[in-house]
Amino acid sequence: MTTFGIIGSGQAGSALARASIAAGYDVVIANSRGPQTLRGLVSELGPRARAADAAEAAAAADFAILAFPYTPNSRLPVEQLAGKVVIDNNNYMVWRDGNLPDVDAGLRTIHELRQEQIPASKVVKAFTHVQFHARSPMRVASDAIPAVLRLARPAGDPDRKALVVSSDHPDAVELVTRFYDDLGFDTVDNSPLSESWRSAPGTPMWRHHVDGQSREELIRNLQRAERSLS
Ligand SMILES: NC(=O)c1ccc[n+]([C@@H]2O[C@H](COP(=O)([O-])OP(=O)(O)OC[C@H]3O[C@@H](n4cnc5c(N)ncnc54)[C@H](OP(=O)(O)O)[C@@H]3O)[C@@H](O)[C@H]2O)c1
Repeated sequence: MTTFGIIGSGQAGSALARASIAAGYDVVIANSRGPQTLRGLVSELGPRARAADAAEAAAAADFAILAFPYTPNSRLPVEQLAGKVVIDNNNYMVWRDGNLPDVDAGLRTIHELRQEQIPASKVVKAFTHVQFHARSPMRVASDAIPAVLRLARPAGDPDRKALVVSSDHPDAVELVTRFYDDLGFDTVDNSPLSESWRSAPGTPMWRHHVDGQSREELIRNLQRAERSLS
């Protein structure tokens, strides 16, 4: 059985826990306040989930996600994540994160900065353009289901959507491609991490985070991205 270490239990972490358990993964989930604060979530997730602190979740993980915003001095379980594929689903939001001059100037992407924080891990950008919360405003009952679950379709379904992946590590791209498939999505590879600005907030592809886009639409939208530098 594959264990997915989810560090961050907010909208993204908890929705991904539900999706990955439904796809047959075991989950170890952590937040910043400690496992005692996750009892309700874990009991709702069922026997395939357990709570831990971030270091324990990283140590137990076959692969992991950091499901919280980048900050220059984030406290991360660097040693426990060494050698592992680590998904970074963070979107750089100036209103929330403040300005990061290297990113604003196009010298680095936010995901290259994350890779520098955990140099012995294989950082992969994924799940940044799919919503993890209810649609707003809600029009029909299914809008209450986060897009990561609502848009999932089996391989070959004519309405199957695609998600992007970027990494400097080909085996991390392969792992996420399998994971996306297990969760009900096709993959478009937009590697390396230096190219991941094409899927940043506000870009043509990112605007489809509520209703999704096919593989062909996603490829076209990535090509249409224009870099805005300051
Ligand atoms: N929400 C979406 O639809 C969506 C879509 C795409 C991408 N994203 C990205 O996903 C990330 C998470 O978003 P969210 O909406 O889930 O945020 P959120 O609801 O605020 O949750 C953040 C979680 O991360 C935990 N956390 C923060 N720093 C931590 C640390 N150093 N170690 C361990 N846990 C830590 C927090 O713990 P506590 O609860 O204990 O404070 C909280 O559980 C963001 O980077 C966002 O840009 C979100």
